[in-house]
Amino acid sequence: MKFAARMAEIAPFHVMELMAKAQALESHGQDIVHMEVGEPDFPTPAPVIEAAQRFVATGDVHYTNALGIPRLREAIAAWYENRYGVSVPPDRIAVTAGASGALLLALGILIDPGDEVLLSDPGYPCNRHFVRAFEGRAHPLPVTAGTAYQPTPEQVASAWTPRTRALLVATPANPTGRLLTLPQLAALRQAVRERGGVLLVDEIYHGLTYGFDAETALALGDDVFVINSFSKYFGMTGWRLGWLVVPTDCVRQVEKLAQNLYISPPTPAQHAALAAFRPETIALLEERRSQFAARRDLLLPGLVALGFEVKAAPQGAFYIYADSSRLASDSQVLADHLVAQAGVAATPGLDFGSFGPERHMRFAYTVALDRIEEGLSRMRRFFGADRR
Ligand SMILES: Cc1ncc(COP(=O)(O)O)c(C=O)c1O
Repeated sequence: MKFAARMAEIAPFHVMELMAKAQALESHGQDIVHMEVGEPDFPTPAPVIEAAQRFVATGDVHYTNALGIPRLREAIAAWYENRYGVSVPPDRIAVTAGASGALLLALGILIDPGDEVLLSDPGYPCNRHFVRAFEGRAHPLPVTAGTAYQPTPEQVASAWTPRTRALLVATPANPTGRLLTLPQLAALRQAVRERGGVLLVDEIYHGLTYGFDAETALALGDDVFVINSFSKYFGMTGWRLGWLVVPTDCVRQVEKLAQNLYISPPTPAQHAALAAFRPETIALLEERRSQFAARRDLLLPGLVALGFEVKAAPQGAFYIYADSSRLASDSQVLADHLVAQAGVAATPGLDFGSFGPERHMRFAYTVALDRIEEGLSRMRRFFGADRR
């Protein structure tokens, strides 16, 4: 079979392959502590399940408007008003198939073949493949602990070319858990605007910040594209639902593309998500948030005591991006050994870009405190730290 040239540049999700290895070991009876996948371990909140059951029982499960049901778009607008004090008209909000769908729509309406998009490296791996799928070119901006793993306006200025269309950032970011403050976002927006480009901000980990709330880039004005999702804070990964907020003059383009790409976002999930903003759901999610904070506060010092270096402590999401170079020269080999010999699955840096991946690993604290304890004690034995 002859495949499209782009397929040679679409890399597999290495974490999935590591997960397959872990599952193979589990099928032979080995217990694995899973810290590799970016998926909360909590079940879907009960009010969301009940809303889905009530809706599905009506049997009235049909396509919806490509931009989503009006009630959900209004509920998301109300969320911005109540949680952030920011007014966003519902008609600028497109409900999508996860943040993944939102990223595809945003890039799809902006990118011509050969256009460049600036992305953080390390960063969320799918982004560069989304850009490639639309025949664009992902331009990585290497980010270090020195700038809290976020790009700066100076980097934007020096990387910008006549073909650059956009800068895509995430706050909190995957894999580093680092944020951009509103003034930092404003400075990036300014750098992009001066050059006639577009700022896209992925806020999928909003709600999962510990000790404070993140500010939305929508507070800066109506020219910023904002991506969000029900997957992480709302604990609804498998429901495949997210949203995209776009400038008013982009709505029609987003609508046309959504109609053609997937007709409409999943209908049962949209009705279920109406219950996601209810006070009892939010109370439950806030309780989970404090559990995530406790997990981070256990795992972070635990990793450091093992010899991992965490140069900019994560402020949000549920990841720790750790420098493993004092423990091993190649993080992929280390990840393989950890899963096979210690029964601990964590993601090697390779998934997140090409800037020092062999020196880094990502640990997800998406498992309970006792499992984190267990993972740490297995790693202590593996590294011989018990004997030190
Ligand atoms: C930064 C970031 N953006 C987008 C996504 C996609 O999420 P979903 O499509 O489940 O909403 C993820 C998933 O891990 C992510 O980490």
